[in-house]
Amino acid sequence: MSSQPATAALVRLRSSDKDMVLEPVSTDVENAAHRQEPDQEISAPAQVPLPAYLQQVYWWAYLHPAAVRVFERQWLVNLILWGNFAQLRDVALDEMGATIDGNILQVACVYGDFTERLAQRLAPTARLDVVDVAPVQLENLKAKLDGGAPRIALHHQDSSNLHFADASYDCVVLFFLLHEQPEEVRAQTVAQALRVVKPGGKVIFVDYHRPQLSNPFRYVMVPILTTLEPFAMDLWRKEIAEWIPEERARTATVKKETFFGGLYQKVVITL
Ligand SMILES: C[S@@+](CC[C@H](N)C(=O)[O-])C[C@H]1O[C@@H](n2cnc3c(N)ncnc32)[C@H](O)[C@@H]1O
Repeated sequence: MSSQPATAALVRLRSSDKDMVLEPVSTDVENAAHRQEPDQEISAPAQVPLPAYLQQVYWWAYLHPAAVRVFERQWLVNLILWGNFAQLRDVALDEMGATIDGNILQVACVYGDFTERLAQRLAPTARLDVVDVAPVQLENLKAKLDGGAPRIALHHQDSSNLHFADASYDCVVLFFLLHEQPEEVRAQTVAQALRVVKPGGKVIFVDYHRPQLSNPFRYVMVPILTTLEPFAMDLWRKEIAEWIPEERARTATVKKETFFGGLYQKVVITL
């Protein structure tokens, strides 16, 4: 993938504003290593359209004004993952370390305490950027962080079109994002995550996976996923590694681990 053009108009939502007010902040591609202290702002390229799949398939989970009120409950996100939220969160975080240093990118917000727990592990010199395409989700995360995370910046961006420089992050993490995306968007998301990570850096995916034949959840999940999450079965059919662009696949190393009888996977791609 080529670098993003360095001319994207950026706008900023100030953390102190009650309503979303966008103001121009920069015309450069955002660079994790050379940004100003973020002061819990939300920054964004001027135009970030909501993806069609999010509006058509996931409006009730992420976009509707009531969605955050309903789903932002630790017990509910844990139930949706059949009691595995904490384990899956922690396998992602443990992959980054007990103390996490460097420039970290989380692609897409997560209901529950994923980002707060990540924030607790940040070393004093570490920086965390979080991207989401839905403003309501960024606002929700800002409220969860409660302004108490000065080394965290929130960005209104699309995972398939990140406005960050090549090789600018030590680690990129995607927690249950890929299964929500149509295949062509997913391929771009994987390519963008690999583009922005530094050589030697890691991209960590936690997501659905094809369960073992003996796992009863295999049979429970088919109707649930095919009804509510129509792109999720792709992750039962294909390995995440198959979406690595050809030019990266030659040098990438891939480590995969499965959980809960194979229903979930962690895939770590190291460049
Ligand atoms: C990470 S996924 C699912 C996580 C998990 N199911 C949970 O409990 O929240 C949900 C998030 O992905 C975001 N998202 C979906 N498509 C995106 C895209 N193309 N770019 C950035 N964020 C996206 C949604 O707005 C939502 O906040």
